[in-house]
Amino acid sequence: MKLTREEERMLSGEYGRATKKAMEILAALGTIYGADRMVPVASVQVAGVSFDNLGEAGLEFLSEMADGGGRVKVLTTLNPAGMDIENWGALGIDADFARNQARVIDAYARMGVVTTCSCTPYLFGNLPHFGEHVAWAESSAVCYANAVLGARTNREGGPSALAAALTGRTPDYGLHRDEARRPGLTVRVEAGLDGTRDFGALGVAVGRAVEARRGKPIPYLRGVPVASVDQLKSFCASLATFGGLAMFHMEGITPESGQHPAPDETLVVTQRDLEDAIRSLDLAPAGQEADFVSLGCPHLSLAEIQRVAALLEGKRVRKTFWITTSRPVKRMADQMGYTAVIEAAGAVFAVDTCCVVAPIKGRFQALVTDSAKACYYAAAKNGSKTRFLPFDEVVAEALK
Ligand code: F3S
Repeated sequence: MKLTREEERMLSGEYGRATKKAMEILAALGTIYGADRMVPVASVQVAGVSFDNLGEAGLEFLSEMADGGGRVKVLTTLNPAGMDIENWGALGIDADFARNQARVIDAYARMGVVTTCSCTPYLFGNLPHFGEHVAWAESSAVCYANAVLGARTNREGGPSALAAALTGRTPDYGLHRDEARRPGLTVRVEAGLDGTRDFGALGVAVGRAVEARRGKPIPYLRGVPVASVDQLKSFCASLATFGGLAMFHMEGITPESGQHPAPDETLVVTQRDLEDAIRSLDLAPAGQEADFVSLGCPHLSLAEIQRVAALLEGKRVRKTFWITTSRPVKRMADQMGYTAVIEAAGAVFAVDTCCVVAPIKGRFQALVTDSAKACYYAAAKNGSKTRFLPFDEVVAEALK
């Protein structure tokens, strides 16, 4: 791979231990994937933040990078942590975990990372523009960046994203290149879509169908008349979880869809397929009482929090109900008065974290949510039963 003089100096250790290590990681990746150069990145989203996933070994790597003089070169934001950084006690997180999680956040902060701890960085300022190269981890955000924003990123792991942050570079391969962004399968949607749960179910149906095909072709969706930011973020989370996809096109909606003809090979998604996808995640046996309700996978937008406040106004929840979002969006909700309404009803804000990355295994038996991704991980990671309902019905469930 051809490196610039500046990149050679990073690799030689001229800018310190951490930058050298970071450039070594990127050069190794570039060699493996056949990149012939690095490209500058405009921003980074780092995953690998919850101490539950990182453990001591991960924390040691971060501390070494911070001690080795690592400083980010571009705007870098963080994925959700294992707890609400300011209010972990209210979520029942134990003090030992909180201490270790604080050490992780501190290591990132020492490197200049913006410790916002959210999977929706595009909702509060980490918003790359069309055609820009970025290096993002967090599968739902990667899919959103590529498909909805038209930015260019591979699905980075925690170390490679941090390496990109410390050097401002990433190897030029995969979705950074035009040829890897072409659609390979037309998906004709012949189903009505109403709200985040349905878009999540569409992501399940398309993701599973693509996953089963050779080469996992990028889908080109037709027949979706309109999609909001919230619906698209739900779709991205599902498509990434159930299809391992980091890119799609949606005719008339995503910015690169007009650059490509619809591929000949076609898959049809019907109402029945959508209902099957919903049923496959609705795993709580009839009559099982849900004991945990959560909205915010991916993290809620201000508009979604406004909706929750409208549905809870003057009422009282009767189950543990987590509202998961980012700190910046929560601050806006505070100022708009939504937080006070939601907390008066007895729901809890779980900021900086989510029901998947928080260490809550064994605490709850049955989760109700509008997120297919949360259903999948609650079952796989925590052994929970799940109910996969539309947004408003999730809130109604918390009131029962
Ligand atoms: Fe975000 Fe947690 Fe879901 S990281 S996409 S809220 S699993």
